[in-house]
Amino acid sequence: MWAELLPVGRSAASGGYRRFAWNSADAECRAWFEEQARKRGLTYELDRNGNQWAWLGDPAAGGAVVTGSHLDSVPDGGAYDGPLGVVSSFAALDELRSRNAELTRPLAIVNFGDEEGARFGVACIGSRLTAGVLGREAAYELRDADGVRLPDAMEKAGYDPAAIGADGDRLARIGAFVELHVEQGRYLAEDQPVGVASAIWPHGRWRFDFHGEANHAGTTRIEDRRDPMLTYANTVLSARKKAKLAGALATFGKVAVEPNGTNAIASLVRGWLDSRAADEETLTGLVEEIERAAYERGERDGVRVQLTRESYTPVVDFDGPLRDRLARRLNRTGTPGGVPVLPTGAGHDAGILASAVPTAMLFVRNPSGVSHSPAEHAETADCLAGVAALADVLEDLACQ
Ligand code: GLV
Ligand code: MN
Ligand code: MN
Repeated sequence: MWAELLPVGRSAASGGYRRFAWNSADAECRAWFEEQARKRGLTYELDRNGNQWAWLGDPAAGGAVVTGSHLDSVPDGGAYDGPLGVVSSFAALDELRSRNAELTRPLAIVNFGDEEGARFGVACIGSRLTAGVLGREAAYELRDADGVRLPDAMEKAGYDPAAIGADGDRLARIGAFVELHVEQGRYLAEDQPVGVASAIWPHGRWRFDFHGEANHAGTTRIEDRRDPMLTYANTVLSARKKAKLAGALATFGKVAVEPNGTNAIASLVRGWLDSRAADEETLTGLVEEIERAAYERGERDGVRVQLTRESYTPVVDFDGPLRDRLARRLNRTGTPGGVPVLPTGAGHDAGILASAVPTAMLFVRNPSGVSHSPAEHAETADCLAGVAALADVLEDLACQ
């Protein structure tokens, strides 16, 4: 499965993946998913929000055990963030079959669309729509960097955007959702190939628009300038400083400049802040402080600052009984000293589904801690331990 996915959407220049919602690489990934489902004799379904499902057993029976993740990537993403969960799901299903496991509940594998939000700015669009956390009207307003609207992108890729919206009936069929994912920091030790998630930090994305005045770089006196780049730069620095003081995270990883000329003072700088913290109070306080710093600096620079919250995900505490059940099952065969139970600062579809169905996550060790980068890596032995753990957990949940 890895060999087939490896070249899809990979940039020869960076070695990273560019699998964005509804682009051609995304289409190839989707075709791959459908093929994996069909060749295993699973019932393939595309839901109204463009998420793909592969069912073993009757989808309508209820109480389904669902696993899966996503196949899209951030710009120049790594191979594992997302695909590890989908590949491991198919591998775990194969393992259950080779064990002759007698499932008493339907089992499904899902590929959620547009988890990373790389194209339309909002993460987990497929699962948010399904859970009704992102409304249809709001989704219709989303545009990519070229101004293409989400429904138009969907339609161009051959999907019907008229159908998108909350899908309570589908969620009602699910008894438990378990997402396996590569761990994205360096929080699992060498003898800990697999961990269980306890929580996801609250996180969000905020767009800062710094409006200045375009002018000539060679003739405009320093005191006559209204340079938004200055306000932007200062805001980046103060975000970093304030996040450190708060024990939280703040990142400006994306910026757009107009008109983007070397010999012109910019008229507009747009910077996207990604911020995360262990609790919502800290996160809210931190973003307010960064906003204040931006406004204050903007006044000094003659720059108007506008802030738009593009997305927000509250803290997610995963279902306690399900989390404990996973840990108990894995402790029967797994890591000496007990399977680690740990929180993460990374967002996941599991975090969205957790508001509607009992949800849990498994993490596979990331030896370098690098993620959202072409250098992301997981050792084969750890990935196989992940598959075994997922199979054990699915068997425990689906054969009761
Ligand atoms: C998703 O990977 C996120 O945490 O941004
Ligand atoms: Mn990611
Ligand atoms: Mn992911």
